[in-house]
Amino acid sequence: MFVSTSWLLLWGSIVWAATAEPVTLHIGGTFPMESGSGGWAGGEACLPAVQMALEDVNNRLDILPGYVLNMTNHNSQCQPGLAMQQLYDFLYKPPTKLMLLTGCSPVTTVIAEAAPVWKLVVLSYGGSSPALSNRNRFPTLFRTHPSANMQNPTRIHIMEKFKWKRFTILMSVEEVFVTTAKDLEAIARKKGIRVDRQSFYGDPTDAMKTLQRQDARIIVGLFYVTEARKVLCQAYHHGLYGRRYVWFFIGWYADTWYYPPPEEHLNCTAEQMAAAAEYHFTTESVMLSRDNLPAISDMTGMQFQERLTRHFQKETANVGGFPEAPLAYDAVWALALAFNCTRNNLPSHIRLENFSYDNKIIADTLFQCVKNTSFRGVSGKVMFSDSGDRIARTQIEQMQGGKYKIMGYYDTTSGELEWYNKEQWLNGRGPPPDSTVIKKHAMTVSNEFYYPTIFFSVLGILACILIYIFTQKHRERLVIFQSQPECNNILLIGCSLCLFSLFLIGLPSDDISVPESLFPFLCHARVTILLFGFTFAYGSMFAKVWIVHRMGATENQQLASRQKDEEENTPWEGIRTLISTMVGRQALMRKSSGQAYGALLEKRNTVLNQPISPTKFYVIVAALTVVDIFVCFVWILIDPLHLTEQKFPLFTPADSEEDEMIMPVLQQCQSNQQEVWIGIIMGFKCLLLVFGTFLSYETRNLKLRFINDSRFVGLAIYNVAVMTLVTAPVVTLLIHGKVDANFAFISLTVLICTYISVGLIYGPKIRHIIKVPPSADEVQQNGNTGPAVMSKVDQKRYDMLRKENETLQKQIEEKERKIHECRERLEQLTMNSETEDMNAQLLSGSNKQLAEDNMTYSTATTLTTTIPLIDLQLNGTHPGQIYENDNDDDCSSTSSDEILL
Ligand SMILES: *[C@@H]1O[C@H](CO)[C@@H](O)[C@H](O)[C@H]1NC(C)=O
Ligand SMILES: *[C@@H]1O[C@H](CO)[C@@H](O)[C@H](O)[C@H]1NC(C)=O
Ligand SMILES: *[C@@H]1O[C@H](CO)[C@@H](O)[C@H](O)[C@H]1NC(C)=O
Ligand SMILES: *[C@@H]1O[C@H](CO)[C@@H](O)[C@H](O)[C@H]1NC(C)=O
Ligand SMILES: *[C@@H]1O[C@H](CO)[C@@H](O)[C@H](O)[C@H]1NC(C)=O
Repeated sequence: MFVSTSWLLLWGSIVWAATAEPVTLHIGGTFPMESGSGGWAGGEACLPAVQMALEDVNNRLDILPGYVLNMTNHNSQCQPGLAMQQLYDFLYKPPTKLMLLTGCSPVTTVIAEAAPVWKLVVLSYGGSSPALSNRNRFPTLFRTHPSANMQNPTRIHIMEKFKWKRFTILMSVEEVFVTTAKDLEAIARKKGIRVDRQSFYGDPTDAMKTLQRQDARIIVGLFYVTEARKVLCQAYHHGLYGRRYVWFFIGWYADTWYYPPPEEHLNCTAEQMAAAAEYHFTTESVMLSRDNLPAISDMTGMQFQERLTRHFQKETANVGGFPEAPLAYDAVWALALAFNCTRNNLPSHIRLENFSYDNKIIADTLFQCVKNTSFRGVSGKVMFSDSGDRIARTQIEQMQGGKYKIMGYYDTTSGELEWYNKEQWLNGRGPPPDSTVIKKHAMTVSNEFYYPTIFFSVLGILACILIYIFTQKHRERLVIFQSQPECNNILLIGCSLCLFSLFLIGLPSDDISVPESLFPFLCHARVTILLFGFTFAYGSMFAKVWIVHRMGATENQQLASRQKDEEENTPWEGIRTLISTMVGRQALMRKSSGQAYGALLEKRNTVLNQPISPTKFYVIVAALTVVDIFVCFVWILIDPLHLTEQKFPLFTPADSEEDEMIMPVLQQCQSNQQEVWIGIIMGFKCLLLVFGTFLSYETRNLKLRFINDSRFVGLAIYNVAVMTLVTAPVVTLLIHGKVDANFAFISLTVLICTYISVGLIYGPKIRHIIKVPPSADEVQQNGNTGPAVMSKVDQKRYDMLRKENETLQKQIEEKERKIHECRERLEQLTMNSETEDMNAQLLSGSNKQLAEDNMTYSTATTLTTTIPLIDLQLNGTHPGQIYENDNDDDCSSTSSDEILL
């Protein structure tokens, strides 16, 4: 408990005195027998220990034979100024001192800084300040009191043992604690442990609140015992104790330090303090050897303590510095042995007694000897580090049921932890986590979605295989033979691939997790399999529609050229043909007259019934696949997919520990330029979908003999296009981040598209094969060469045109008849004119002249005016017929036609 400020400590100087005989010893020193500024005097127990040691050393014959140690001492009261004055006393008053022995840290600091000037080695038994571990500032200082830093490697080792990656230092703003905290931070940083630091002066309330806010769990406290009690009480009030927290305190407090003394006015009862103190750890340098091996002084640690206790003859708990007394005892032994060593190592003409304050040889030898010190003392093994620090073991204790139990020892030199595995935890399981445990929970596709999808996709794949076998078996049947079975097989492969990709798209599911190393592979597999599946399935349908449309277009061109021959070759007709060829065949179809239609149909059927080589389809599918391969290749090469984790807000699981939080993580496949690639692929596919829809609309009435299922293909394309064009934006834009919904949408789309496509294309075929026997198939095929290949719409139009033809025929007959009548009447009129010529000339001379003029200038637009004139001419004898004829369009137009012609 020798911490700098408030203690008084003794310090002294060892004076060498050699007499010829008998051996004389001179001892000088001061002792802090009075209490200093509020603390207790550490010298109270240490002075007797030092005297005891001098006695023991002087009694030993094998140490410094012929010499006696005598110590002169002063009471420094742990005040640096007073100590300086006492140092001058030592230096300027004979006899010459060979070494200085100091107590508390502040006194040690000033003495050890000055002593090198007089070539004096300083040995401190009470300085614990880490600041003293500085060879540049204190070149000749050694100490038997372990530095406060000594416990830091131990603390870090325990942190590592319990796998704590983060802790908080709560410290009082005192030099010794600040330097200790700095050292602890430095070691922790080297080990990759995160450290937060909170300091307070006097009242720890604010610092405790900060700790609470920072969610500190492992807290290392560095403060004096009065502050420790305040901290413990605040910890109780702030709930910073219990199963989620682990406190580390300094080990040199008294065992019952946490009982609240009435004079401190703590707002906590003893029970509350005991509750908060339960299961805390302490670290403390070992100051009394507890093993049974006797030390160099032939005493064990316990024997030494008993001897010292006898010396006081009172309760040692009230004796200041009692725990440190072994260090003072060992300090004397260390210097005695160093003198013995120096004596042996000095050149023969120089003796120890020849030491003066400028004797470098003796000073150097003494320094080396102290540095080489290694013996078993009552405080354990006494050794010094290069910086003069005592190397000691650290003892780790835990409070269990209000009593400190030794957990183990840590040896700083070897870095070995001797652990008894007796630690206990309030949660009964193990060390609590160092912070709120944030568990990453990958958002997975739930089983309710995954397994049904898998079921249906397996079913689909099986169906594809069965259909393939079935069609292979019946490949001789016309319905299969004439449906481009190779093309349909590509559809089956594509659909199977799409269905298979659902397995991968659903990963990771609740039951199946994917190691992160496999994720890039999974990402690429998903994308490519679905992409190629789509290209095969859709490409095969697209190829059919495309070829049907191409053939329709070829046929239209022939038709157009034929019509060109028949009709007037005006520029307007040329443009019209061009548009028709581009837009489709419908305009031309309508244009062609009913009579021509039969011949046309005949010709069309010969064009459309040609067998089509499967290579044509392969070429189209291959072209689409090449585009896919190219895009995929460039994508994977330039900007490969990798796993990205999108983090979602934390939540506390309802049924779990309160210091556990779940962080949902969405594992996604992502490229750096994801949008660009998706844009390219989606754009291309959308174009294909829209174009395919257009083509299938265009060819909806066209039927090729060797693509007998083109209408179903068209339907399938509509369906796929609609499903895909609706789903893609929904999935990418609306339900981003909802794994289940996303998967459900994708899988539903894929399942529906594949099922409907396969169903539409194979359903009717299978039904046909099962219902119609092969023989009937042939008969039907032979009987139906003509109308059978006509589609319903064509049939309807054909019927319509025929009907129209019939009515026109009737009208023509009617008109013929009327023309006949008119002719007859005309003849009659000419006959009459010969008899009544004069009569007529009188009646309508001027009128006739007019009619003749009109006839000369008559055009199509003046037809209506011409008709009444003619009638007027004729009406000379039958005036009542004027109106009748005027209303009769047929007759008038016919007659006008006659006239025009
Ligand atoms: C130590 O030396 C001082 C003189 O320097 C002397 O007064 C004192 O008696 C000596 N102590 C012992 C125990 O011999
Ligand atoms: C002290 O030195 C003597 C030789 O001068 C040696 O025999 C003795 O062992 C040494 N004592 C110790 C404890 O090392
Ligand atoms: C003492 O603690 C109680 C809670 O246990 C609290 O309500 C009260 O304000 C505290 N008093 C002081 C003076 O801190
Ligand atoms: C050392 O001291 C002794 C007597 O104390 C003296 O006789 C001797 O000359 C001194 N040696 C040196 C080198 O000073
Ligand atoms: C100190 O120990 C080293 C080896 O451990 C030895 O070489 C050296 O001589 C010793 N120095 C003295 C002064 O005893």
